[in-house]
Amino acid sequence: MTEHRKYEVDPVTGSPIHPYSWDGIGELETPPPRWWVLTYAACVVFALAWWVLYPAWPYIAGYTKGVLGFSTRVQVAETLAAAKAAQAPYNDKLAKLDYAAIAADPELSTFALAGGKALFQENCSQCHGSGAAGNVGYPNLLDDDWLWGGNYATLEQTIQHGIRAPGDDATRVAQMPAFGKDSMLTRAQIDDVTAYVLSLSGTAPADPAAAERGAQLFTDNCVACHGEKGVGNRDVGAPKLADSIWLYAGDAKSVAAQVFNPKHGVMPAWASRLDPLAIKKLVLYVHSLGGGE
Ligand code: HEC
Ligand code: HEC
Repeated sequence: MTEHRKYEVDPVTGSPIHPYSWDGIGELETPPPRWWVLTYAACVVFALAWWVLYPAWPYIAGYTKGVLGFSTRVQVAETLAAAKAAQAPYNDKLAKLDYAAIAADPELSTFALAGGKALFQENCSQCHGSGAAGNVGYPNLLDDDWLWGGNYATLEQTIQHGIRAPGDDATRVAQMPAFGKDSMLTRAQIDDVTAYVLSLSGTAPADPAAAERGAQLFTDNCVACHGEKGVGNRDVGAPKLADSIWLYAGDAKSVAAQVFNPKHGVMPAWASRLDPLAIKKLVLYVHSLGGGE
């Protein structure tokens, strides 16, 4: 129930009492505090100023740009341009100098390696691992066990043109024959040569006679690429077999599978995707990882 009353003044607070009362409960008409009114007004002024100065109102195909022309995109572009300008003297120097000269300049090397590391994370880590330790089928780049080689020129060639990279005429190519699938060796011969390969990396063969037969098979079929006693051959990217570092795996089953029907790794070519300076930084970075020659 509402009942009509005239404005009265509340004797305790001095505020007018609202002329309506609800079920006998009245309400004071205390004005909002002055600080609140001023803050409110300041907010309105601020909002109006913001609309004028900054991007504010969307419309169908855009938004009001504001007289300051501010946008976070422009800001990012400016920051990037500033960073690029700051790097320019280093980049110019990097582009001009050869690898040895860069390596001899600690400040320039530090700059190049930082760039190379970032590029590696972005482009290479999905295959070689973020720490470059590799994975099955993706070589570890931290050690000095190279398929193709670890000096500057070789790394540059590998990174520019890749390995078995489709569409790159200068890519590295090496094809291990499918000894089993193409009936060049029998199953028994593959087992023998496998026993020999395993003995090369120091595993005592389960069947010494098999390993002995395998030695001759190895000389006849494998030495041309993998070298005497499996030392490897970088000219054809044939891995060293006389160590415990494996591109694929070093158990009898995996080795026999490789001899039967080999896997061939594909490393993309980067010359068409990265500029020469980026490749130079990557070469310096990979070279610095531990196996550089
Ligand atoms: C799609 C996967 C993939 C990506 C991405 C990739 N690689 Fe590779 N990379 C490989 C494979 C696979 C091999 C080994 C090829 C083979 O079996 O011969 C290899 C080999 C290499 C080698 C030769 C190693 C040796 O022992 O000679 C280098 C150096 C190398 N990669 C560097 C890089 C760099 C630098 C990048 C980034 C710009 C990169 N890779 C990106 C897959 C990749
Ligand atoms: C025409 C050259 C060629 C011949 C001949 C050849 N290989 Fe290979 N082999 C390669 C290449 C190249 C690779 C590396 C494949 C890759 O990079 O993906 C390889 C890889 C391997 C691997 C894998 C090594 C690892 O680290 O995982 C084994 C094992 C192997 N070969 C054994 C043999 C045996 C045994 C023979 C003889 C029966 C033989 N190969 C003959 C070129 C050859």
